[in-house]
Amino acid sequence: MILSIESSCDDSAIAITEIATNKLLFHKKISQEIEHSVYGGVVPELAARLHAQALPQILAQVEAYFPKLKAVAVTATPGLAVTLVEGVTMAKAISVALEIPLIGVNHLIGHIYSLFIEKETLFPLTVLLVSGGHTQVMEVKSLTEIETVAKSMDDSFGESFDKVAKMMGLGYPGGPAIQNLAKNGDRLKYNFTVPLHQSPLIAFSYSGLKNAVRLAVLEADGDTTKYPDIAASFEHIATKHLTMKLKKYFKTHNPNTFAIVGGASANLYLRSQIEALLKPHNAKLILSELQYCSDNAAMIGRVGVDMYKQKLFSEMKDLDISPKSSL
Ligand code: KG4
Ligand code: ZN
Repeated sequence: MILSIESSCDDSAIAITEIATNKLLFHKKISQEIEHSVYGGVVPELAARLHAQALPQILAQVEAYFPKLKAVAVTATPGLAVTLVEGVTMAKAISVALEIPLIGVNHLIGHIYSLFIEKETLFPLTVLLVSGGHTQVMEVKSLTEIETVAKSMDDSFGESFDKVAKMMGLGYPGGPAIQNLAKNGDRLKYNFTVPLHQSPLIAFSYSGLKNAVRLAVLEADGDTTKYPDIAASFEHIATKHLTMKLKKYFKTHNPNTFAIVGGASANLYLRSQIEALLKPHNAKLILSELQYCSDNAAMIGRVGVDMYKQKLFSEMKDLDISPKSSL
């Protein structure tokens, strides 16, 4: 079995995965959403303190598995430095105490592997990762052959939802709050410009749209009856930006199997629009279960299983955290 730890942002999670079957034997996550909500975003120092309480609490629940562990896998990149280091330090301690190898996992590969929890891997894949930290399209041939073909030049898709929600006083995380509010709104009421719509670049940008929404919220001048329309129009344009760039990309790279992963892949409007986009391409859409879209340790454990099989271990002295991803 593999013990896996995730602490890259505001979720403390630990999982136990059976190597032979990919079976998830244990998974527990303690989220910090309520604690960060009042600040409208994640406060790194507060997150670090909360991980220091939550991780040992969860670890105590898996002690019975210790004799059966073959390795310990941990998110080492990307994420908040002060929170990554807590998971990595715990993993190193477990590795020394139980004399088992250490596996440093890239969180973004973790999101890709959220598709394969309790399942076999399925490659090749074209993947859209939409999370709080990242918006990127990747061509995934295998665990070790991943090419990023498009990414955001500034804010990420999920982050733009968080910032727009903060403008409207909806708390954190903003994605579910905006999605909810948008249900009762008119998607065409506000004519926000689609980012980079005239640019030939296959890349993403959310800072301009965010600022356009800021002006609309200021103009509403506290009239919250306008918020559902603003939320719906924002969600529409944020999604249209993704589908327009993907459409352009698909002209030269016809996908057979397409996946959406990451916390924001839970967005139902995004899912429906991507489904429509894929129809003429006869491409299959795969999604992770809703409970594994956002950060979790089950996905890290699933990567851990494949890395264990390929003996991709880290030396204790070499395993360091890295806030920025190399993907
Ligand atoms: O993958 P994740 O849990 O953490 C990172 O790795 O960043 O993603 C969290 C992000 C947050 O920005 C959150 O607002 C967004 O995912 N999110 C959504 C939805 N649910 C979560 N964004 C849009 N619509 C949603 N339904
Ligand atoms: Zn994530």
